[in-house]
Order: sequence, then C-alpha cells, then structure tokens
Amino acid sequence: MSSLFSRRDFFGLSFGAAFASAFSRRSAFALSAGSAKEFPLTTFSSDQDSVRFYTKAVSEPVKILQISDSHLFIDDERGEKYRQYSERMAKAYNHTRHFATGAATNPQDALQDIADRAKNENYDALALTGDIVSFPSAAGVDYVKDALSKVDAPFYYVCGNHDWHFEGMEGTERELRDEWIEKRLKPLYPDGVNPLAYSVKIKGVKLLMIDDSIYEILPEQLDFLKKELSDNLPALLFMHIPLYAPGRRVAFGVGHPDWNAAHDGNFEIERRIRWPEKGHNAVTYAFRDEVLNSPNLMGVFTGHIHHRSLDILNGKPSSVTNAANDGSTLKIEVLPYPEKE
Ligand SMILES: [Fe+2]
Repeated sequence: MSSLFSRRDFFGLSFGAAFASAFSRRSAFALSAGSAKEFPLTTFSSDQDSVRFYTKAVSEPVKILQISDSHLFIDDERGEKYRQYSERMAKAYNHTRHFATGAATNPQDALQDIADRAKNENYDALALTGDIVSFPSAAGVDYVKDALSKVDAPFYYVCGNHDWHFEGMEGTERELRDEWIEKRLKPLYPDGVNPLAYSVKIKGVKLLMIDDSIYEILPEQLDFLKKELSDNLPALLFMHIPLYAPGRRVAFGVGHPDWNAAHDGNFEIERRIRWPEKGHNAVTYAFRDEVLNSPNLMGVFTGHIHHRSLDILNGKPSSVTNAANDGSTLKIEVLPYPEKE
C-alpha cells in the first residue's frame, strides 16, 4: 500500500511535547490512495483527544467514543471468596487526577463524568477496549452498565488482560479468559456474539472487536478478520493491546519479535503463567500482517499502555488511548471526504 504522507513529516514523533506541537496544527495525510486493492481516498487527522478519518468510502458521519482502561475496582459480596485473587489490582488505580481539571477523582467518578459528557454529544457508539474492570467483578460490571445507560448509544466491549484475570488463580490464560467472560463479563457484550471476535456495522462502517488480551491471536480470530475485511467496507479495529511497532518495548504490543519467556518481567507480580519460551505463534504474526495489509482497515484503536501514542504502520494509524480512570477518552470520527477537493 502506498501512502502520500512524508516519512520526514511523521515518523519519529511521539505524543507529548512533539505530539502537541505537531497535531495542534491539525496535520493530515492520505492513507490509502493508490493501494493495490482499491479503497477510496482516505486521510487521517489527529488532535490531542480526537481523531478524524475523511474518506470517500462513507456518505455520512460516524462518531465513536473510545473508552479504555477505566480500571474500576469496586466489589461486593459476590467477590468475597475471590479476594485473595483480586487484592492487588483492587488497590492499583484507586486515586487519580482528572485529566482536564487536575482535581482528585477515582475510576468510578471518572466513568460517570465520561458518561455525563458523552450523553450530549450524539455518539453512534462507544467502544470499550478493555481493562474496564481491574478484575472480574460482578459489581464492576453492573456499575459500567448502569453508568453507560445514560448515554443514548450502544457500547461494544472487548476484554483487556485484567478484566478476566484473578491473579494467582490456576489455569491457562485462555481458560481463565473463557471462564470469567462466561461467569462475569457476559453482560457487557451484545447478545449472542462471540466475545473473542465480533463486528457491528454502523452507517456502513464496520467496527471489529477482537480480543487480544492474552497477547496471542487464535486461528478463528484470524479467520474472522479475513472474512470481515473481504467485503472491502471501511473498518476500524478495536482491541486492548496495541500492535507491535518498531522501537516499542516488548510489553507494548502484539507481534513483538522478542515477546517470549526471557522477556516476561511481570509474570510473578501478576501471578500468571509465564509467556511461552518460543514466543508468539505464527497466527499472531499473520494477524498483524493481515491488519497492516488490508487497505479497508483504516485504523487500529487500543489501550493497555494508559498513555496516548500513535504509530503509523504501513501507512495505517495504530493508536493507543489514555486510560479512562482520569476521565480521558478518544473521539473517533469517520467523515465524508470534503466535496470540493
Ligand atoms: Fe490497563
């Protein structure tokens, strides 16, 4: 895929000071003109907490709010017998400072604040990209549903590595994810979907919700991605863990060549099975390649790192959103390409 933006203009920038100065001027570049598999002209613009795609592939605006890593820690009597597994994470992000006001807040109040602001902004959907709860808490799940019910837009959720994880509980990550999605997290998903890979279509734009919370991709998830993208409709991918980007640390992303047991610094603290000796399976690398080489997949939106960043991978934006436990969100708009150009 060719892209029209200049490497000199963009590569090497990270968010923070460089980001603020570069993006406050509303920079934009074309993503996919002239790609081998034809996809209409599309550009991408980014400001501090919002991004916009302009594309000839849509005729009406689509407006999505991404919420990630709210890390709710509330619990009730339903979690009592699991306290030995939830204790550490229940203390992890309890006190935060509001991203805009600097006032003391906490994950629960920050989520209410997000919902209050969102209810007046006419979103088509909310995308929840994991670590919404810090452990599989029934009270936390109830709280999310209740807080977001005041927003007149559906929410679509995928797990992060903490949502399903009771630290120290016996089992592989795949087993624990399946078990606690079923026992606790199911109410956060639309009825009848596969929690590990599902899609929704909003005004002609597909939101692909894929669970990469174990750092690995399953064969059926790769098959799902290929099938979903085969119709060439514009699509956005939402996951918890970002994709590996050159220069990023091992824990940053899915598909890092050094992701393996030797580089797993956190398995003891998180009381989980260590990353495998041999690193990623071939499916995970193939998934990343598929994402990067599918012109109609316009961008990837993730969390996990808690700090905003943007990598351009093969001309495609791969975005990390600030943690919502301080009220942060990312507004994502897909807009018709301006008529006169
Ligand atoms: Fe997180």
